[in-house]
Amino acid sequence: MSSELRPTIISGFNHILHGGDYNPDQWQKTPEVVDEDFRLIKLAGCNAFSVGIFAWTSLEPEEGRFTFGWLDRVMDGMARDGHKVILATPSGSKPAWMSLKYPEIRRVNSQGLRDVHRNRHNHCWSSPVYREKVRIMNTQLAERYGKHPALAMWHISNEMNGECHCELCLKWWREWLQQTYGTLDALNAAWWTAFWSHTFTAWDQIEPRDSSLDGMRVAWLRFINHQLRDFYQWEAKPLRAASAGIPITTNFMGLFSHVDYSKLAEIVDVVADDQYPAYSASDPNLPRSAAGISFKDNLYRCFKPDRPWMLMESCTGTPQWRQPTRLKRPGLHQAEMLQALGHGAEGTCYFQWRKCRGSVEKFHGAVVDHVGHEHTREFRGVADLSRRYARMPEILGSTVRAEVAMLYDWESRWGIELSDGPGFTGEMYPDVMLDHYQPFWDQGLAVDVINSERDFSGYRVLIAPLLWMLKPQVAARVRTFVEAGGVFVTTFFSGICDQHNLCLTGGWPGDGLMDLCGIWNEETDVLGEGERRRVKVAGAWAGKKRSFSAAHVCAVAQLRGAKALAVYDEDFYKGLPVLTRHAVGKGQAYYVAARVEVDCLRAFYGKMARDLKLHRPVPAVLPQGVTVQERVKDRATYLFFQNFSTTAKRVALGPKAVYRRLLDDKRVRGTLTLPPLGSDVLARG
Ligand code: GLA
Ligand code: ZN
Repeated sequence: MSSELRPTIISGFNHILHGGDYNPDQWQKTPEVVDEDFRLIKLAGCNAFSVGIFAWTSLEPEEGRFTFGWLDRVMDGMARDGHKVILATPSGSKPAWMSLKYPEIRRVNSQGLRDVHRNRHNHCWSSPVYREKVRIMNTQLAERYGKHPALAMWHISNEMNGECHCELCLKWWREWLQQTYGTLDALNAAWWTAFWSHTFTAWDQIEPRDSSLDGMRVAWLRFINHQLRDFYQWEAKPLRAASAGIPITTNFMGLFSHVDYSKLAEIVDVVADDQYPAYSASDPNLPRSAAGISFKDNLYRCFKPDRPWMLMESCTGTPQWRQPTRLKRPGLHQAEMLQALGHGAEGTCYFQWRKCRGSVEKFHGAVVDHVGHEHTREFRGVADLSRRYARMPEILGSTVRAEVAMLYDWESRWGIELSDGPGFTGEMYPDVMLDHYQPFWDQGLAVDVINSERDFSGYRVLIAPLLWMLKPQVAARVRTFVEAGGVFVTTFFSGICDQHNLCLTGGWPGDGLMDLCGIWNEETDVLGEGERRRVKVAGAWAGKKRSFSAAHVCAVAQLRGAKALAVYDEDFYKGLPVLTRHAVGKGQAYYVAARVEVDCLRAFYGKMARDLKLHRPVPAVLPQGVTVQERVKDRATYLFFQNFSTTAKRVALGPKAVYRRLLDDKRVRGTLTLPPLGSDVLARG
């Protein structure tokens, strides 16, 4: 897509968004604090604020009585000073008067108990009363502010998530099942309900809390995601009607496992994430932690490849919920924010602008501290970053071009985690992804991260670790990709189940992938903590390295046409393949049978990158802990260098290359020196 057509996040606003959650509703008794905020915002150089996220009681203190005066003043002040408001709907936290008058708006938990009024993010998705209250509130906000000059975007609710087991939600669940499966016969077959005599003979027998039916549990997660998206659309309707052209979004939570953000992303206008990396110089695995954030950033970048995404929340300092509440060391905040920009983000906002005086988040990091003035380290850091951003508007509209794609699939993750047996829990799914992503990050090679329903055809390499669940046509599309010359890599625990989480029969990886990969995964050995198996390299693809180790998962596989590039060197499966290659059509299909150490994957993908001559942002090998992300626009290239190590590093830029440092417009040639934890942004062309 031509860069001229790529819009900025806020149409016509050609600045990197920089600001945060702002809660003037908490300071109504002290208007001088709000006045002071306007002074401080100018000093900080910030330009975008999410206002009113949890402000329901300030907007409607009692049923039907609306009080917008405080918000009018804030909106007008923001417009006067040229700032942009991301105006929130307040549904993330319902008022007590409403909870008590209409108990049905409170969720029922999985034990069948209706919650008391407390906390937040806990309203029922179905309740007609809550929907009506939200409709009235959103209509009021939209009609009052829909054309306000400060309004730049709508922020629906907050971190939408969770489930409700009330009668209304269960009724909706059963209707959704009927629409999804059509007949009880189809549903019984999909969930294998003859097991333990679970066959359903009427729709109202279907109780979602039965963990013995993992197919049903997968369906339940699909259903609560459907509810969430339906509620989002319900909230968006009055906003859209009164403010055509104003983008609408809601804030996501990274890789949070129960919300399929790849689907939610389809209905938001701007992809916005809440991310709290909290790098620490004392983390011995700092590069891996940083690569984990890059992986997630790539996924977010690819949700809407033709539009920039943004950090809706991050933290200038330390969130109170992270233990220990170690201070963010100088420089780290900038590194975290520039990392997001390197991956296509065009805004970094914070939770929060000003620290509140009471309640659970009173010690959460913020731009403005309790001390109240601008002479703090956190404030200076933000003002500094604003100055940096002011020198970088030319990056707006640039994009990342990747030849490699990785598949990250929420439903595959659900399938693995809900199946009893495989030994995958919690963070294991993203962890294995990271094993395979790290070698690319180490060398600054761009990787798109997409789900299995997206088009593969534009890529040269497609990597699908843990492609547990094969939805209809996915295996066939992989075959087409390989036959046309693509390189496909998959691993243990791939092609195990269909979209219902029913095991595929006839050999794994199923649905034709066994034939494509030329291998049969007969059994899978899941090892205990600390256990390892030696792996022997066949041939010279790993250079001088002759052996590696595998841990955690060792699939016992038989060659069915593929060639072994590495084999186990111990246990009863000694000699059986760990890494295989199978030529099909014009392409290749690789199978990685074990959770081999990352060094093995570095050697493997390193050779692949050389053989395929994958595009490298800089010709030289990057030093350990350093990465580079490349954004391009027309003939210009922007390189975001980051040193995630505690020693200074020198990067060879190539003999002929001349760059311009965006920070100071100085020329850089030959070598770039990055201080410990340092970042730099260079432009070429
Ligand atoms: C989340 C929420 C915010 C705030 C922060 C604290 O991201 O959206 O309201 O609670 O966490 O880190
Ligand atoms: Zn409910």
